[in-house]
Amino acid sequence: MILSLFFMCLSCLPFYSSDKINDRPIIGVLAQEVYSQKPNQTAYIAASYVKFLESAGARVVPVMILYPGGGVSIISSGYERAAKIFYELAIEANSRGDYFPVWGTCLGFEQLMYLTSEKTILSQTNTSGVALPLNFTNEIKDSKMFKDFPAELIEDLATQALTENSHKWSLAVLTHNSNEELKMFYKVLSTNTDGKVEFVSTVEAYDYPIYGTQWHPEKNAFEWTRPYIPHSPSAIKTTFYLAQFFVSEARKNFHKFESEDEESKALIYNYNPVFTGPKSGFEQIYFF
Ligand SMILES: *[C@@H]1O[C@H](CO)[C@@H](O)[C@H](O)[C@H]1NC(C)=O
Ligand SMILES: *[C@@H]1O[C@H](CO)[C@@H](O)[C@H](O)[C@H]1NC(C)=O
Ligand SMILES: *[C@@H]1O[C@H](CO)[C@@H](O)[C@H](O)[C@H]1NC(C)=O
Repeated sequence: MILSLFFMCLSCLPFYSSDKINDRPIIGVLAQEVYSQKPNQTAYIAASYVKFLESAGARVVPVMILYPGGGVSIISSGYERAAKIFYELAIEANSRGDYFPVWGTCLGFEQLMYLTSEKTILSQTNTSGVALPLNFTNEIKDSKMFKDFPAELIEDLATQALTENSHKWSLAVLTHNSNEELKMFYKVLSTNTDGKVEFVSTVEAYDYPIYGTQWHPEKNAFEWTRPYIPHSPSAIKTTFYLAQFFVSEARKNFHKFESEDEESKALIYNYNPVFTGPKSGFEQIYFF
């Protein structure tokens, strides 16, 4: 099963300042269409993505742009259309100095590669359900994503299988290097291999606060239904340091709702997660 996500700060009233910090960051998480719809269950967000952001001091708003007919594809779904809208808003906002961070996990990562290259360029890999160590590139030395990681944790990430992969498609390193758009846009921070194809596993954009992991940082601390999800102390620290990193990026954004009432109605607290553990890959899911 390909799991996904993609989050970004919400728009409304932009206000920019370079040194102030927003202590009330709100992050939009893109919902996905459910595979087989039921009454009142047309879209979902795995609760682990929400906990990931909440654990570092953010509040979450679910983002839903639904085109009935389901089946999530990165080129023709409601998820894709919503992702495209936010990606374009983020590029446009950042270009005029309005800091607007974006994060893509797994399907969200693949979606970012598609949006940047405007091409379907992924390769099939044998990576559904495996934890791997990261093969870091030299680019991590001056990366934003890993700069606050303790040196021992970087060492553990490089030598222990701390990053969980649940994907059948990957961006091959060769494809990244031969695609001008991707090469100019993203710095490759880590790669991995399934034994046959070397693929890109972590990126950050050169000129925008746009980040992606093909692996799942949120699962280590919050998902337990699969035996290959790592839960060691270093695995949990990985979840925490990346959550802390992305939320600290979101704190540089000052977009807000027009009123507290609007904000309150939009927050994910209006919904209750459902315990789905034994039947699904997620312990808890928010349905919409
Ligand atoms: C769907 O949601 C509506 C509004 O909350 C509720 O009245 C209805 O009973 C729900 N239907 C099902 C099948 O749960
Ligand atoms: C896929 O990888 C797993 C190990 O993660 C291995 O056991 C399996 O044989 C591989 N399958 C193929 C088709 O290479
Ligand atoms: C790590 O990446 C380098 C550079 O692409 C490659 O030469 C090396 O074989 C990779 N190591 C592993 C363990 O995959």
